[in-house]
Amino acid sequence: MHPGMVFLVGAGPGDPDLLTLKALRAIETADVVVFDRLVSEAVLALVPKGTARIDVGKQPRHHPMPQEEINRTLVALGRAGRCVARLKGGDPFVFGRGGEEALALAQAGIAFEVVPGITSAQGCAAALRLPLTHRGLATGLRFLTGHCRADAALDFDWQGLADPRTTLVVYMGHANIREIAAEMIAHGRPASTPVLVVSRGTLADQRHLTSTLAAIGSDIARAALPTPALFIIGEVVSLRETLGADSHGETAQRTAANH
Ligand SMILES: C[S@@+](CC[C@H](N)C(=O)[O-])C[C@H]1O[C@@H](n2cnc3c(N)ncnc32)[C@H](O)[C@@H]1O
Repeated sequence: MHPGMVFLVGAGPGDPDLLTLKALRAIETADVVVFDRLVSEAVLALVPKGTARIDVGKQPRHHPMPQEEINRTLVALGRAGRCVARLKGGDPFVFGRGGEEALALAQAGIAFEVVPGITSAQGCAAALRLPLTHRGLATGLRFLTGHCRADAALDFDWQGLADPRTTLVVYMGHANIREIAAEMIAHGRPASTPVLVVSRGTLADQRHLTSTLAAIGSDIARAALPTPALFIIGEVVSLRETLGADSHGETAQRTAANH
């Protein structure tokens, strides 16, 4: 039997044009594709007709395939000599649990390769023509998960997150953005700091909303933007006024001057 091979492939934030050539090659040559719910329909449309598909989609409030079972599935496919493209939204190693899959494969002695993807922070920022760092506005960039294990309390380095020269991108932040914003203000970040929310970034139905730390909790509740969505917090968001003049329409526009 041929030795199996698993590619942990970053499928990007949704727009298939953002796939790397290596990702596309893995999709086209695999004999089985394992994917979850963040992989867009347009990317899945690139999977050849004869390729087996396994949907391990993690639908909210539905029973997802537990991570341990996904790990076991990948190991079993590798042991069976299959060539697997394990497609994950964005980048597999940015809040994608790709590290756990890589560990399971390494421990089982299955050959694997990691194909990086455009993480949604990059895809969403680019779609709105927004730099994440900018001379004079942001000297650092942090990616943060807004969702803690088993819904545990948020336990972040609030003082560090309040640094006004850092752009903060919050993944999975919908449920906790009000609390995150309040803590940042409490730790000294100005309440007028701009916040950009991007919903379904790079997809045809992409939407966004501009707000401030003070207003984001109520704005996000009112706008009811569909998921997935991410939050970009920091002075770079103010560049939207100049750079974003003709991109997709805003659902709400709030300026720091209003608060
Ligand atoms: C489990 S994390 C996976 C992140 C992924 N590995 C990446 O690199 O983008 C899921 C979160 O990614 C963000 N996300 C993924 N795709 C997105 C998109 N197209 N638009 C906005 N946010 C997105 C959302 O914050 C979502 O809650």
